[in-house]
Amino acid sequence: MSAIAADSLSFDAVAPHVRGRFGKPYLYEPECESTQLLLVGSGLPEGAAAATDHQTGGRGRLGRRWEEPTASSVLVSVMLHPPAGRHLPELSLVAALAAAEAVEGATGLSAQIKWPNDVMLNRRKVAGILSELSDGTVVVGIGINVNQTRDELPDAPTPPGSLFTLTGTRHDRAALLGSLLFRLERIYDGWRHGGLADLYGELGARDFLRGRRVTVDGEPATALQILRDGRLEVETAAGEVRAIESGEVRYEV
Ligand code: BTN
Repeated sequence: MSAIAADSLSFDAVAPHVRGRFGKPYLYEPECESTQLLLVGSGLPEGAAAATDHQTGGRGRLGRRWEEPTASSVLVSVMLHPPAGRHLPELSLVAALAAAEAVEGATGLSAQIKWPNDVMLNRRKVAGILSELSDGTVVVGIGINVNQTRDELPDAPTPPGSLFTLTGTRHDRAALLGSLLFRLERIYDGWRHGGLADLYGELGARDFLRGRRVTVDGEPATALQILRDGRLEVETAAGEVRAIESGEVRYEV
């Protein structure tokens, strides 16, 4: 068995890659229902992370499931204690930026963000973000498809890929998780200090939907841009320009 085939996200594997506050404390279960459940309502400090090698009830956005074969993915949730009065949906974009940077660092391919929470590589979704709010804290869950083969990827509305299917090489999940936690900490600190405005340059440059024909909750439109407040600006088929806060955006594949 190769070192990568035997890899895990155990504390011993990941600790050498943890360089900052995020990832401390680090909770690891070889298998669990969902890493979100290990943190939501836990009272753990900011930066606490929970990871696993397999979820039996992984949660996606909009009530969907998030499924993966054991030891194929990065599956992590991170506890955030954002300041009061902030616009918390922005944290999905914060986490998506961190995941895009981490994936780009690992593959050398340029990563984009499909508003509001998907990370795209070569037009394939390789990562998704789920943010859950409880008592003023936010648990951001990040799932990255790392070593799945094409057959192991799920059927999904946005065509999925993994770092393996897109690069042809297997990737070290523990190192990728360390890089993700470090980047999330830096980008989150930037957001705490200066809001989305501080991150807008990078966000705008990674805007996957810009100029694409889309449907918003089934209604045809053209995506114009991610706005400075994190909403998506679209122009409907009737020529009305609208900013949307949430919803399902599909694009013409
Ligand atoms: C999506 O794109 O629909 C969001 C997927 C989020 C998946 C991650 S995996 C780690 C964390 N635990 C979960 O149950 N979900 C998130």
